[in-house]
Amino acid sequence: MKAYRAALLRFDPAGTATAPLPLYESDGLLVVDQGRVVAAGAFSALQHTYAHVPTEHCPQHLLAPGFIDLHIHYPQTDVIGSPADGLLPWLEHYTFPHESRFADPAYALAVADVFLDELQRHGVTTALTFATSHPASVDALLGQAEARGLRMIAGKVLQDRHSPDGVRDETEQSLRDTEALIQRWHSRGRLGYAITPRFVPTSSEAQLRGAGELAAKYPSVWIQSHVAENLDEVRWVQQLYPQARSYLSVYGQFGLLRERAIYAHCIHLDAEDRALMRDTGTAAAVSPTSNLFLGSGFFDYASANEAGFRYGLASDVGGGTSFSPFQTMLAAYHVGRASVTGGGTAKRGLSLKPSQLWWQHTAGAAQALGLGQVVGTLAPGSEADFLLLNPRATPLLARKTALAESLEELLFSLIVLGDDRVVERVMVAGGEPYAPAQHP
Ligand code: GUN
Ligand code: ZN
Repeated sequence: MKAYRAALLRFDPAGTATAPLPLYESDGLLVVDQGRVVAAGAFSALQHTYAHVPTEHCPQHLLAPGFIDLHIHYPQTDVIGSPADGLLPWLEHYTFPHESRFADPAYALAVADVFLDELQRHGVTTALTFATSHPASVDALLGQAEARGLRMIAGKVLQDRHSPDGVRDETEQSLRDTEALIQRWHSRGRLGYAITPRFVPTSSEAQLRGAGELAAKYPSVWIQSHVAENLDEVRWVQQLYPQARSYLSVYGQFGLLRERAIYAHCIHLDAEDRALMRDTGTAAAVSPTSNLFLGSGFFDYASANEAGFRYGLASDVGGGTSFSPFQTMLAAYHVGRASVTGGGTAKRGLSLKPSQLWWQHTAGAAQALGLGQVVGTLAPGSEADFLLLNPRATPLLARKTALAESLEELLFSLIVLGDDRVVERVMVAGGEPYAPAQHP
């Protein structure tokens, strides 16, 4: 057993997007044992019960749940910052050619290592990530995640049409490979598998049907894909499925909307789609830096809250521009401000509260994954993935956070001014602190 004394941020697992229920102690105690949280709360309330436990005192630091990235592509680590006139040219010119390199397992292994270093350096302790269409790319990532003790979910991309040589797979083989990977990796320690059709245009009907059948056969396996990100993409899906009510409904038709299904973007949805998200238990991975970079559009927070479907934050590297949850939360704030609610003179943007943004990247993302009782909150009994943050990591942050008079002000300063320098230590399952390997 070990205890940490510092300022402490937790979330009540009963929190929601509009009422995230942050719990904050300016002098807190977090007690961990065998990878789990034993107790968390005010130092004054817990100090006697845990007086015998070795305690590390970290004054002027903040303990907080590890961040959860709801949608990221590990093979796109080196695709960040590739400019294009929107999603489809970006895929064609940069992403597909780059992903074809992952046919080489040694290359995949090297990138997986760099990717996990980047996640951990930025305080991300769980991610739902795409691999490539090459099955060994999943083995490369999940093998390394296992060695690090990380809670990680990944899947082999399914893309058997409208895809170039080098990344295109073959329908029957792709489904056999997916099932073999489920059996190899799903629920092995902290690892999970996600059935991963890239998006509607790049999978045949047979492949989507097969994916849906696997999703029904393995209900605890996740599903991840993209939907309604870009208007050219939406039009393409309309041409491919002229009878479909909407792009989202195509996934529904193949049994791919359910609990533990996470769809990136969800920008160009209508009210009926949002109700379908809610009614099926499907969640959205909101990816603001990606949406701004590729000019895709803005996630509509007000309509999402009105409909009441689940969502959380994601980097979407390499369409996204940063591994940093601080950058992602700030971009989400900008997206909220830029969104327009109401009409006439009532038109105005939304101001997401810092605790709402933070929730979307921790407890809310965990709920979207169906892991709300497992990670993201630091509630007693949950897994002890946590961060030691230094609110004075830079001169400007030190000045700004010293002025904070409330939790919201403190969190906002970190969101606006913070980066990986704030993340002083990353503890995975209460274990040894993460020390990044040296890369030249
Ligand atoms: N839609 C299909 N593939 C991708 C991808 O790799 N990134 C993003 N942002 N959207 C996609
Ligand atoms: Zn993506």
